[in-house]
Amino acid sequence: MAKEKINQELMEKIVSLCKRRGFVFPGSEIYGGLQGFYDYGPLGVEMKNNLKKLWWNWMTKEHENIVGIDGAIITNPKVWEASGHVKNFVDPLVECKKCHHRFKADDITGDKCSECDGLLTEPKIFNILVPSKLGVVEGEKVDAYLRGEACQTIYLDYKNVLDSTRIKIPFGICQIGKAFRNEVTPGNFLFRQREFEQWDLQWFCRPDEMEKWFEFWKEERMNWYKSIFTNPKNLGFYKHEKLAHYAKKAFDIEYIASPVGKEMEGIHWRGDWDLSRHSEFSGQDLSYADLETNEKFIPNIVETSGGVDRTFLFLMLDAYTEEEERIVLKLKPSLAPYKVAVFPLLKNKPELVAKAKEIYSDLKKEFTVIFDERGNIGKRYYSQDEIGTPFCITVDFDTLKDEAVTVRDRDTMKQERIKIKGLNSYINGKL
Ligand code: GAP
Repeated sequence: MAKEKINQELMEKIVSLCKRRGFVFPGSEIYGGLQGFYDYGPLGVEMKNNLKKLWWNWMTKEHENIVGIDGAIITNPKVWEASGHVKNFVDPLVECKKCHHRFKADDITGDKCSECDGLLTEPKIFNILVPSKLGVVEGEKVDAYLRGEACQTIYLDYKNVLDSTRIKIPFGICQIGKAFRNEVTPGNFLFRQREFEQWDLQWFCRPDEMEKWFEFWKEERMNWYKSIFTNPKNLGFYKHEKLAHYAKKAFDIEYIASPVGKEMEGIHWRGDWDLSRHSEFSGQDLSYADLETNEKFIPNIVETSGGVDRTFLFLMLDAYTEEEERIVLKLKPSLAPYKVAVFPLLKNKPELVAKAKEIYSDLKKEFTVIFDERGNIGKRYYSQDEIGTPFCITVDFDTLKDEAVTVRDRDTMKQERIKIKGLNSYINGKL
């Protein structure tokens, strides 16, 4: 089969699984949807929260000198003038005079529309910041923007973080937060949305240490992604040749096996651009006073800026495995929405159901657990494999005598007999 067709089929399977099993739903679906917006369902939100928690703990607990913030989505509109977004966050587009379809000018070679053969207009500039209005009185409303990138609030809070903590250079401020863009071509499911989430680290350092820290974070971030993917060999770097005027280097961490776009995270050399611009536009001194060397300078910044939703999509694609008789989501257990499923062998035997419910309630105190008594055991395994549940526990007649259960491993499908009182430590050990 042609590669494009295989890719398209794989995406269709992931989109369908996500909706059918409650990972991701199309936004506003009962009203016909809204392009570029999605909602996470009961399983999706568990997995996304697991993912964000892993990132957050890794940033703030496994590194020295990184603190977090949670900034506002709407900021003073001057922020976006200082950042350059009002002027430069633009896409030149052409429009078909006949069917009014719009295309990115960079993607077009001729002067005819690929949809209807109509003639195209000259390129026009569109800003992709999402505007908003603040205030209640018509005519007195103030223009604002939803943030086009999450990182700007980190620059705005940099001085407050310095003044309110004892942090010293080099240090990092990290954040997970929403960003909004009027993407011209939203599509490919979670890959290009109009509302999405970013996880950013802005690492503030001395200008003469940029090289060292850039290389450090580039490798460090790649190692982190490798630790969460089922097939780390599917990750790679893309080196940017076209750079922003202040940047010396830029790399993307890519999911190279992606059937759609590949970019997952950007490692950016931002230098002193952001703090200098905000210093200039706000009139505030954003320099750093180094008390040890008596120097005063604008810190330079290495940024690692990744997409939470894109990572989610790539993890699903990477974990999705079709085997002869089942579909398995081979997610790392730490990411799986449910860690454990508990079944009574037969649903019409009250003593088995009661024992299974007791185990379920106990495990629920520590793990995300699902109880299932529908159909036969085979169907229940099939259903749990498809959503990536690493362990299935079955309560059978022997359980009532020996206080032990059968634990079945998602990946190997092997079964072990484990004492009920040892279940928590068994599962924790595996996780
Ligand atoms: N502060 C730098 C910045 O925002 P970016 O490369 O535009 O850089 C960083 O975005 C990451 O955010 C991307 O690598 C991607 O994972 C994610 N991202 C960007 N636009 C997106 C969109 N429309 N939908 C989903 N994720 C997006």
